[in-house]
Amino acid sequence: MELDLNLLLTRVHASVREASRLMMDREHLLIKSKGSVTNLCTSADLAVQDFLYRELRALVPGSGFLGEENDLLDTQHEYVWIVDPIDGTANFARELPECCISVALKGGDEILLGVVYNPYHDQLFDAVKGGGARLNGKPIHVSDRPFEQGMLLTALCLYHKQYAETCSAIILEAYKQCNDVRRFGSCAIELCYMACGLCELFFEYRVQPWDYAGAYLILTEAGGVLTGRDGAALHFDGPTLLVGANNAGNHRILSDIVTRHTQE
Ligand code: IPD
Ligand code: CA
Ligand code: CA
Repeated sequence: MELDLNLLLTRVHASVREASRLMMDREHLLIKSKGSVTNLCTSADLAVQDFLYRELRALVPGSGFLGEENDLLDTQHEYVWIVDPIDGTANFARELPECCISVALKGGDEILLGVVYNPYHDQLFDAVKGGGARLNGKPIHVSDRPFEQGMLLTALCLYHKQYAETCSAIILEAYKQCNDVRRFGSCAIELCYMACGLCELFFEYRVQPWDYAGAYLILTEAGGVLTGRDGAALHFDGPTLLVGANNAGNHRILSDIVTRHTQE
């Protein structure tokens, strides 16, 4: 089945904006931890995912859905929605305004459409395959800063702290060669900040498809590079290490550092 991606995109915008109203309604917000005290799930995460599960599958008949909450894994379909109902839940729980809804549509092995929306800043990043990337409808592009001026976005592997030392060693080595380090607490937003030229470098030891699938397309359509370990192509079907940069040269430098400190 052929899809009209631009038409679909306007419909996904509407669904995501509607879902953000559920996210921002904090009147009866419940915050719980799942698995560990740092890993949170709020009633808003569940409400947004439930809503998008119904809306998005109706937009593409027969499509599947991979969502973070409740082990929602229905991926044996030609088209699959990959959704993080709230990326940056720890920020959201404390009203730190760096969090977003992330949606991607995968067709075969490719991401065809990506939308990342931060309702706090009313920032809607989007892309369809081959159509460039936009922020609130205006085309965006990665910066041309060299590695030594690069801002590194990263984390210490929040949900698997046994890898914090490895991450620290990678961050330290990169930090000595780049400008500085930032941690915003939302993988999707960080990749979009690279897409619009605010930051240049990205490393995380272990992320899930819903953390990065939508922003992957936005970043790559904006001219950036995002891969797994040692330049491996991404498959959007399980946890992965991520290395990103504003261009291939900077990606190579960061990727070499990461590869030296990690094993396959
Ligand atoms: C997390 C955020 C965070 C990243 C973690 C993710 P969540 O997603 O994107 O920035 O460091 O790897 O799991 O739990 O807020 O949806
Ligand atoms: Ca996430
Ligand atoms: Ca989440």
